[in-house]
Amino acid sequence: MLISFEGIDGSGKSTQLARTVAWLKSLGYDVLLTREPGGTAAGEQIRAQLLDPRSHLSPRAEFLLYSASRAQLVDEVLLPHLRKPRAIALVDRFADSSTVYQGGGRELGIEEVEAVNMFVTGNLSPDLTLYLDVDYATSVSRRERAGSEPDRLERSPREFFESVREAYWELCERHAARVRRIDASGDEDTVFAQVQAAIAERLPVKP
Ligand SMILES: Nc1ncnc2c1ncn2[C@@H]1O[C@H](COP(=O)(O)OP(=O)(O)OP(=O)(O)O)[C@@H](O)[C@H]1O
Ligand SMILES: [Mg+2]
Repeated sequence: MLISFEGIDGSGKSTQLARTVAWLKSLGYDVLLTREPGGTAAGEQIRAQLLDPRSHLSPRAEFLLYSASRAQLVDEVLLPHLRKPRAIALVDRFADSSTVYQGGGRELGIEEVEAVNMFVTGNLSPDLTLYLDVDYATSVSRRERAGSEPDRLERSPREFFESVREAYWELCERHAARVRRIDASGDEDTVFAQVQAAIAERLPVKP
């Protein structure tokens, strides 16, 4: 089973993923946690380039760098893991991030990006995608509290995040069977309860 976590920066993906890993391990699953871009040696080099505020990338070049990191992650990490018994792979962002950021936010076109995504992943699609929905103000205040320097994408203007958020909403409608919207504005426990409920419904082997 492959589960991806999506949402704008500061929505709580990494926080909820850490709790999800511990929970699923306690149920006896073989859990792999990885992230995008990155997750492999080649992918981490690509990640550094993508997040570096000094990088000047055209929208198509940016999309193809994400795609290269993703293809490597699928071949080197995800497919081998998913062949194991009781395996669950959790990814911090996956192809939907390109759909909404490069297709929506950067205006390359949702359908164009989704078509390339299929080639890049070899048609590997998450069984379940949890979209952690927060508004821009919540995202900014959480990031400020975390106190880290904003990366290249986090420096984007507010309008960019608003268009990404709208693209996430559209994603929930287009892929209603796969993508579940989680209200991520509440405290960590409240959000985690929703995450657990959504995953428990789909567990291949019931806890
Ligand atoms: N439900 C919550 N309520 C309040 N603060 C939260 C909540 N969830 C996470 N945080 C805090 O908000 C900050 C951002 O959370 P986190 O790093 O999990 O988000 P993220 O989606 O992984 O962000 P990024 O895309 O930048 O990696 C962290 O400092 C985290 O401790
Ligand atoms: Mg994170």
